[in-house]
Amino acid sequence: AAELGLKDPGKIVVCGDVPFRPFEEEDPTSPTGYKGFDVDISQEIADGLGVELEFKDATFDTLQSGLALNSGQCDMSASGMTITEDRKKEIAFSDGYYDSLQSLLVPKDSDVKELGDLNGKKIAVQQGSTGSAYAEKKAEGAELVYLPSDAEMFQALQGNQVDAILQDLPVNLDHTKDGEYAIVAEYDTGEEYGLAIKKDNTKLVEAVNAELQEIRDSGRYQEIYDSYFAE
Ligand code: ARG
Repeated sequence: AAELGLKDPGKIVVCGDVPFRPFEEEDPTSPTGYKGFDVDISQEIADGLGVELEFKDATFDTLQSGLALNSGQCDMSASGMTITEDRKKEIAFSDGYYDSLQSLLVPKDSDVKELGDLNGKKIAVQQGSTGSAYAEKKAEGAELVYLPSDAEMFQALQGNQVDAILQDLPVNLDHTKDGEYAIVAEYDTGEEYGLAIKKDNTKLVEAVNAELQEIRDSGRYQEIYDSYFAE
């Protein structure tokens, strides 16, 4: 693994913004201290590359801007991060590994049915996210409340500091589990998650893509997918 440009050749340091359930969250019982779809995919990749996995929490905005990767704080980011042309100016992406949409989460008794209903109201978005960019374009008249993590967004909704959350569908779906909040609108933004890597590290991008292909071919990807997303 010497040619992969890892900071420590024996391990791959993978960063994710935690919690972003079911993609990454803390789990003291797991060997890495974390669990989730992104963590499992990262583990497969690390195994395939023959290195150890160190999973690390990092603020999403520092991941999507390239700061954490280009400074060498992380070798790779697995953080439910959408591949965008804008981000590609600063970071490299693997092939896509998950398709996602945006969605609007509100308290069950809310009158809000879509972004257009939020005129004069407050909507929580994650700093630096594709959801925040979408809300900037589509939530006319709404006040956007930018928060660094999904946990803080959900707390703001629970504390009635905001009227709604715009976030990736699978993550908002997780917030409907206690029965108090509902997804009232889905927006098909055609987003695809990619693993992010330092821009000039073509070798690692190629190796990671080969591992992704390998776990798709072996059926392992489907197994992991089903364990999180099967109905
Ligand atoms: N998919 C969205 C984006 O790329 C949100 C990702 C947020 N991820 C996280 N781990 N908090 O902007």
